[in-house]
Amino acid sequence: MRDLSPRPGDLEPIETASLDELRGLQTERLRWSVRHAYDHVPHYRASFDAAGVHPDDITELADLARLPFTAKADLRDNYPYGMFAVPREQVVRLHASSGTTGKPTVVGYTRADVDMWAEVMARSIRAGGGRRGHVLHNAYGYGLFTGGLGAHYGAERLGCTVVPVSGGMTERQVQLIQDFRPDLIMVTPSYMLAIVEEMQRQGIDPRSTSLQAGIFGAEPWTNDMRREMEARLDMHAVDIYGLSEVIGPGVASECVETKDGLHVWEDHFYPEVVDPVTGEVLPDGERGELVFTSLTKQAMPVIRYRTRDLTRLLPGTARSMRRIEKITGRTDDMIILRGVNLFPTQIEELILGTPELSPHFQCVLERHGALDSMTVLVERRDSATSTAATEAGHLLQRLVKASIGVSVEVDVVAPATVERSVGKMRRIVDRRPAR
Ligand code: DLL
Repeated sequence: MRDLSPRPGDLEPIETASLDELRGLQTERLRWSVRHAYDHVPHYRASFDAAGVHPDDITELADLARLPFTAKADLRDNYPYGMFAVPREQVVRLHASSGTTGKPTVVGYTRADVDMWAEVMARSIRAGGGRRGHVLHNAYGYGLFTGGLGAHYGAERLGCTVVPVSGGMTERQVQLIQDFRPDLIMVTPSYMLAIVEEMQRQGIDPRSTSLQAGIFGAEPWTNDMRREMEARLDMHAVDIYGLSEVIGPGVASECVETKDGLHVWEDHFYPEVVDPVTGEVLPDGERGELVFTSLTKQAMPVIRYRTRDLTRLLPGTARSMRRIEKITGRTDDMIILRGVNLFPTQIEELILGTPELSPHFQCVLERHGALDSMTVLVERRDSATSTAATEAGHLLQRLVKASIGVSVEVDVVAPATVERSVGKMRRIVDRRPAR
């Protein structure tokens, strides 16, 4: 794999600023953002008033903990434009999250917000090894989903040649990679696997393409999956994180030279980790739910927005900004199986440690009488015989029991039978009747 580390002078000064400088900037911006939200969004005025806090009380970063949280329900209750802090005419773009239950959440951007987003995305792509002049294949979905356009604007800002493919039509994805010879690819990790499969179907060695780095996000994936992708594609695989409510992709991103977690672009998005049950702020290093406060967003400021994503904050390494560890999962994706908590990422790690099994899997939940059960539906690798794959299934069952502490069924199926996705993969299939 080629060395894609940044060269001196590539980085923005703030990426390597002293912590004093960073904290100073954040404090100043926090005061502005809290005041902006209070003055222009009735929801924030009401919730701050109810909590007995006023923007004047917020003078340092630690004061943030005095403010109430914002939840997805608050955004839904104010659907569609109620959380906007500027007149609708100043909003140049809308995006919306998929909204599997009820109404979607709508987010808005002023021209300056779109600009800031392009800047943090350009920074993220550079962190992942992107450079001016690179060709970038963008297979994140274009549309209301923030992935496609977010990556697009960032890549253009960095000076890349963008191929705006969007998701789907896998055969054509492969054709375009062969013809346009991109240096970089941006796509969900699960869809990257589908593209790799299609390459193999067409007789193309995935290690032979022009790709040097993949910037993967929008869904949880593990370090074992990184090793799998790097080996199969002979390219760097780095993680990118974000959510629509905060801006879209580009809230945090991994550096290709360290691959040790995602640096949060803290000059724009202030992170906290809280106990998901009590809401108490946890010290850096402890695992909990990630909470974000936007520091510079105009159209839709968010104050202490609860992401439901679980991780921990770690000190900066390749950049001054703190890192988050790879996301384990979401509080609402946690499976509670007969009293034991588990996440699909834990299953992914165990599957990838078992050579006969492929990374295409789903966790199927069912209920028989009063008892919940889970079946791991996983494909065997092309190279594995069915006898070896059955053995591997039994091994996986024992590994789950030993490391997670719960009994599950394992169903090893033929290649290309587990559902594929062109965007975010559905890892949990819940067939339990609603209680
Ligand atoms: O998924 C934005 C995005 C697009 C991020 C492209 C990265 C790349 P939403 O659709 O609003 O936005 O979904 C946000 O997806 O709260 C996490 O649960 C999950 N997620 C996003 N990135 C990661 C990641 C986009 N790198 C929700 N690892 C978030 C784990 C992720 N989960």
